[in-house]
Amino acid sequence: MKVLVTGRLPEEVISLIKADHEVVANELDRPMPREEILRHLSDKDGLLSMVTEKIDAELMDSGPNLKMIANYGVGYDNIDLEAATARGIKVSNTPGVLTEATADVTFALILAVARRIVEGDRLVRAGGFKVWAPLLFLGIDVSGKTLGIIGLGQIGKAVARRARGFGMAILYHGRHRIEETEEKALGTAYVDLSTLLSQADFVSLHVPLTDQTRYLIGRKELEMMKPTAYLINASRGPVVDETALLEALRAKKIVGAGLDVYEREPYLTPGLSDLENVVLLPHVGSATIETRTKMAELAAKNLLEGLAGRVPPNCLNCRR
Ligand code: DGY
Repeated sequence: MKVLVTGRLPEEVISLIKADHEVVANELDRPMPREEILRHLSDKDGLLSMVTEKIDAELMDSGPNLKMIANYGVGYDNIDLEAATARGIKVSNTPGVLTEATADVTFALILAVARRIVEGDRLVRAGGFKVWAPLLFLGIDVSGKTLGIIGLGQIGKAVARRARGFGMAILYHGRHRIEETEEKALGTAYVDLSTLLSQADFVSLHVPLTDQTRYLIGRKELEMMKPTAYLINASRGPVVDETALLEALRAKKIVGAGLDVYEREPYLTPGLSDLENVVLLPHVGSATIETRTKMAELAAKNLLEGLAGRVPPNCLNCRR
């Protein structure tokens, strides 16, 4: 069969797909333009897509033979799942393999904003470090503080495990309450959203982007946070109203933010990058060599299983 791979993946993974199929793969370190994807899809049976690509009905209709879409990422808000199901196209994602790496980046953001790591780095590079001083670059303790996790799925739980090591109190909120025994093991307590927002020193977002979570954090929610609190987002940008966040940061309604994702990625709301009290990353939650390799392998496995007419291990719309 014929396969399109829209992102640059390790050669071994491409070879694995090539063993059974004819492959057109993006060999450049830039996203494949949509027109190119539309053109290539005309004779393709399988698509290995990136989370930044909008996989909608128009795109699916440009590939009349399409049977399988394997998304390279755990988030699949970029895919119109209903349209795929209506066309009999199987869709998969890559859960599990990026849990720890994403939790690490979340913690890196927490530590970076609390201890002003990036500001300090900028000062040293600019030649501004003249002498040690007792009040130079004071941050706040992370240990002993309260972390509020919104969305206690696999990544949220991995963040909770790290927070325990830091002796933090952990509150969580989400659509579902987990078993009491697991709550105890993780050292977490379920609370409603407003309690979490008003008590947490760090509010960390780990929900998927859906119609229910878009703008979950807006002006009203930011107002509920403590003026000493930080917002951390390594989930999806549109979960936060970025204009409201910018206003809250400028008005010191909250003290800072650590962001890996943006509402209109890769564009930032003008003014955001002028602020000293934010740490900004380029959507690198899962970006480690080990994790990106596992993601590529898992996406390829899903693709191959789907094209073989079987249920891929991480199918999002298959009848089991
Ligand atoms: C995902 O997996 O959804 C990330 O955002 C990309 O690694």
